Amino acid sequence: MSTTPITPESTPQGRTPATTGDRSGLPMEALRREFPILRVPVRGRRLVYLDNAATTQKPQSVIEAVARYYFRQNANIHRGVHYLSMEATQAYEEVREKTRRFLGARDTREIVFLRGTTEAVNLVAQSYGRPLLGPGDEILITHLEHHSNIVPWQMVCRQTGAILRVAPIDDRGEVVLEEWKQLLSPRTRIAAFAHVSNALGTINPIREMTALARAAGAAVFIDGAQAAAHTPIRVDEIDCDFYCVSGHKMYGPTGIGALYGRLELLESMPPYQGGGDMIASVTFEETVYNELPHKFEAGTPNIAGTIGLGKAIDFLQEHGLERIAAHEDALLDYGTNRLREIEGLRLVGTARHKAAILGFTVDGAHPHDVGTILDQEGIAVRAGHHCAQPAMERFGVAATVRASLGIYNDKDDIDDLIAGLHKVRELFG
Ligand code: ALA
Repeated sequence: MSTTPITPESTPQGRTPATTGDRSGLPMEALRREFPILRVPVRGRRLVYLDNAATTQKPQSVIEAVARYYFRQNANIHRGVHYLSMEATQAYEEVREKTRRFLGARDTREIVFLRGTTEAVNLVAQSYGRPLLGPGDEILITHLEHHSNIVPWQMVCRQTGAILRVAPIDDRGEVVLEEWKQLLSPRTRIAAFAHVSNALGTINPIREMTALARAAGAAVFIDGAQAAAHTPIRVDEIDCDFYCVSGHKMYGPTGIGALYGRLELLESMPPYQGGGDMIASVTFEETVYNELPHKFEAGTPNIAGTIGLGKAIDFLQEHGLERIAAHEDALLDYGTNRLREIEGLRLVGTARHKAAILGFTVDGAHPHDVGTILDQEGIAVRAGHHCAQPAMERFGVAATVRASLGIYNDKDDIDDLIAGLHKVRELFG
């Protein structure tokens, strides 16, 4: 690319070389250098970015791909006969194939690009759920869901008279599988659950849940927002009906995500939105819808974001999700043990199978105060209910502090978090 590289304003201070500190073998120093923002000081300190569940930082390759599209390739897709339009269309559709392979889908027609996980749930609720559901039908979710995997189902229940059932979680933050099974019945038309909880880090036993739900005759929707950057995904092996991811939580741009849908279900579903590109022909009397997946992609899509998503997938595959998972698991163990050193700290979410999330409260200190004090040290965490108020309520808290891990985090980041929490204790202890 001939454009001026986008470089950070400054370099970090007082940073010892990053090491993996585990057996994953990730090249941490080189890997961290791929993220320009990690070289930008925050409040005069090196950035300790532990808010990856909210959004991940972007590697240079993603940033440059988005910039390159606008510098060199910008044109609308699927419409033009001219060179740039054909090039942009090809680049966009190549990412669909890449996404298909990344998710383990069988057919590119099963991959729909949309804004992200939230839009995916709404699409499935309205296009799959609404025509299917009626009074007495049930949708089964769990107590640990993000609001985006609750509210769209509540909305479709109100529209159709269906009933929302909620499976409980235990004190560790694990779905109580026996009770979830009890709630599964011939009335269950859809079972929706997170792969990984954004607030608690719980990894649900998605294969077992999918097999049970499908055997009961329900369609299975899995929210993969917090899984895609942390663990390999194979929808063909999971055998779910729908699975969705958000680009910005997997080192890609905001405003782009992907929905996998089983081909025969997508075929049977009406479009979610009407507009350009989702039609084969339009007259005032009749409109014939386009073939899959374009039927679900009305209007000009996020072309630049899709191209950035493709680079994010390349990035994840270059480093390897198995290695990323090993690295983050080791860091999660280290972080969990170090947090236990802090007097008055209560971990919220201690599932036996967890990914990348350290949620906690500190006695006597409001989570927002903890977040603000950590911010003064250049440490970014999220404090609040994490769009999972029912999960918070289950633990008797209104909010927690959440440190969420990504590929570039290392033991130094955890050590800085612990030092910051000692300051919190000094102020509030
Ligand atoms: N869903 C995002 C989070 O958990 C925003 O922080």
